[in-house]
Amino acid sequence: MTILVTGGAGFIGTNFILEWLALGLGSVVNLDKLTYAGNRRNLARVPPDSYLLVEGDIGDRALVGRILSERKPRAVINFAAESHVDRSIDGPGDFIETNVVGTFNLLEAVRAHLETLEPRQAEAFRLLHVSTDEVYGSLGDDDPPFTEDTPYAPNSPYSASKAASDHLVRAYHRTYGLPAISTNCSNNYGPWQFPEKLIPLMILNALNNKALPIYGDGRQVRDWLHVADHCRGLRLALEKGRVGETYNLGGGAEKSNLEVVGSICDLLDEMAPTCSSRRTLVSHVKDRPGHDRRYAIDYSKAARELGFSPEMTFEAGLKATVEWYMERQDWVHEVQSGEYRAWIDRHYGA
Ligand code: NAD
Ligand code: TYD
Repeated sequence: MTILVTGGAGFIGTNFILEWLALGLGSVVNLDKLTYAGNRRNLARVPPDSYLLVEGDIGDRALVGRILSERKPRAVINFAAESHVDRSIDGPGDFIETNVVGTFNLLEAVRAHLETLEPRQAEAFRLLHVSTDEVYGSLGDDDPPFTEDTPYAPNSPYSASKAASDHLVRAYHRTYGLPAISTNCSNNYGPWQFPEKLIPLMILNALNNKALPIYGDGRQVRDWLHVADHCRGLRLALEKGRVGETYNLGGGAEKSNLEVVGSICDLLDEMAPTCSSRRTLVSHVKDRPGHDRRYAIDYSKAARELGFSPEMTFEAGLKATVEWYMERQDWVHEVQSGEYRAWIDRHYGA
C-alpha cells in the first residue's frame, strides 16, 4: 500500500521515508517543492520500485489531485512547510503561502479525492498533519507542560502559520468529515537536519572553530526529541490514532540553549580535541524578536492511546548526531549552497 508524503526531502520527512521503507511498510510517493530545505539526494539511494519523488507544490491542487487519483495512497502525511522561525521573521510571505494557503489547497484536493472513493476506502483513508508545539506559545519556568487542551497562542509568523494550518485541518474534519489526525511535536534533532537550526548549526560552527551565536541570555528552554522517536510517534498516530484527534509528542528532555551548546562543545572536545575548549567560542548575540522562553510537552495522551514514549536519551541522541555530522561532511558541503551562505551572512552578519 502506498502513502503520499509531502515535504519528504526535508529533515523529518527524509528520516520518516527512510525508516518507512526500511521497515517494509509499503511504497512512498514524495511530493516536495525542493526549496532550499529540500534535497533530492537525501533519498537518492532508496530502491526506485518503492519510491517516487514528484517535484511540486502542495498548493498545486491539480497536481495533488492527479497523484491521489493515479497512486491511490491510503494516507497523506503532511510535512511540507516553511519551518525556520528566524526566516519567518525575515520574510513571512512564504510561510503564509505554503503553511496556510498550501495546506488549504492540499485539504481541498484530499476532500475532492475522498468523494471519488467507495465509502469503505474513504473510511480507511487518513490525513496525518505534522505540526509543532510552538502553536501553544511560551511557558513560564513553573508552568505545566503543554497538553492538547492548551489554548493556541503563537508568537512568530512561523508558529502563527502552523496554527492556522492546524485550525484548517480541524475544521475540515468537523465540517466535511475529513479523516484527519494531527500531531504537535517538540523540537527535533538528528541526521539530515538543515544547518540553520540550533543543533546542526552549532555542531558545524564548533567543528570549524567559528563563533557559536547564542540569542540573548541563552536560558530559553526547548524539549528535545530525537527524530527517530518522532517518526515512530507518527507511525503510531497513523496506525492507532483516533480520527479528529490531536496528539502531543515530546521528548521529556527540557534543556536550555546554553546547556545544549555546552554539551555539543564537550562532545567535540572529546571526539576531536583542539588546544582550547569549544566553550570559549560561545558568543551572546542580539535576541530573536518575540523569542519564546520555554516549550515543554505533556505526551501522556500519546502514551496512553498510542503507546508512545521516547526511547533515545538526549545524551545518546546528541552524541550520535554529532558523529553523523562529522561523518557526513559530503552532505554538509552539498547543502551549504550559495543560498545558505547568503542566509548566514544576512542573519548573523558576514
Ligand atoms: P524542513 O524545513 O527541513 O523541510 C520542509 C520540506 O518541505 C522541504 O523538503 C521543502 O522543500 C518542503 N516544502 C516546502 N514548501 C513546500 C511546498 N509548498 N510544497 C511541497 N513541499 C514543500 O522541515 P522539517 O524540520 O523536516 O519539518 C517538517 C514538518 O514538521 C513541518 O511541518 C514542521 O512544522 C514540523 N515540525 C518540525 C519540528 C522540528 O523540530 N524540525 C518539530 C515539530 C514539528
Ligand atoms: P531553532 O533550532 O531555530 O528552533 P525553534 O526556534 O523552532 O525552537 O532554535 C532553537 C533555540 O535556539 C531557540 O531558542 C533559538 C535558539 N538559537 C540560538 O540561540 N542561536 C541560533 O543561531 C539559532 C539558530 C537558534
